[in-house]
Amino acid sequence: MTAATVTTTPAPMNIWDVYWGLRVEQCPCDVHFVEWLEEQGVSGKRIYHFGTGGHHYVGIRCAEPELDCTVLGITASPKEYDSFVKLATENPTITKTYSAYFGDIYTSNARLLPRFDIVTLFHSCEFRHAMNDAYGALTDLEVMRLFTAQTDAGGHILFYTGSFAYAAAETVIAEWAASSPVREVAAFKTLRVFAKTA
Ligand SMILES: C[S@@+](CC[C@H](N)C(=O)[O-])C[C@H]1O[C@@H](n2cnc3c(N)ncnc32)[C@H](O)[C@@H]1O
Repeated sequence: MTAATVTTTPAPMNIWDVYWGLRVEQCPCDVHFVEWLEEQGVSGKRIYHFGTGGHHYVGIRCAEPELDCTVLGITASPKEYDSFVKLATENPTITKTYSAYFGDIYTSNARLLPRFDIVTLFHSCEFRHAMNDAYGALTDLEVMRLFTAQTDAGGHILFYTGSFAYAAAETVIAEWAASSPVREVAAFKTLRVFAKTA
């Protein structure tokens, strides 16, 4: 290294340093989502899920033959990711339909993503802070637009009205809905359901 070399420490990822078990009273979005899938008679769909939790409820339930959906889930929690490694190790069959990855949804890149039929954005506006700006992360609106683009026409994008950040998310959702090929088609328990129209 020469004297002129400048070294900088990259900004660390804004991880979620918590393990979230299934707490249906406090946060029923994942359970409501699976109930919505069941009510719709959904089967064989490709799902993207924002916020696996350490319980991996969506991935596990969607692997059941009645739903038979694939789920790609993201977690920003190292402990939750560890719990996916344990789940996959003990039950490798689940990896045929469920994969969880560790990352920040705000650094998503379309070139790393497949197409989806259903996208959950339940935790919009909950966890994006100035810390994410330090590494050029996307905004919530940009994430909504990116995952809308990854969703096939006729697919669905869902939001969670019980989120502690819903007041902020509601404003962003309104801006996204007004500028995207989507139409709100249903309210299901705590969830808002949009269909992609084109
Ligand atoms: C409160 S937990 C809810 C988990 C689950 N959806 C539930 O309702 O039980 C929030 C989830 O969002 C994930 N999360 C938080 N910030 C994230 C980020 N920037 N990118 C991806 N996932 C994130 C956490 O890892 C965690 O799984």
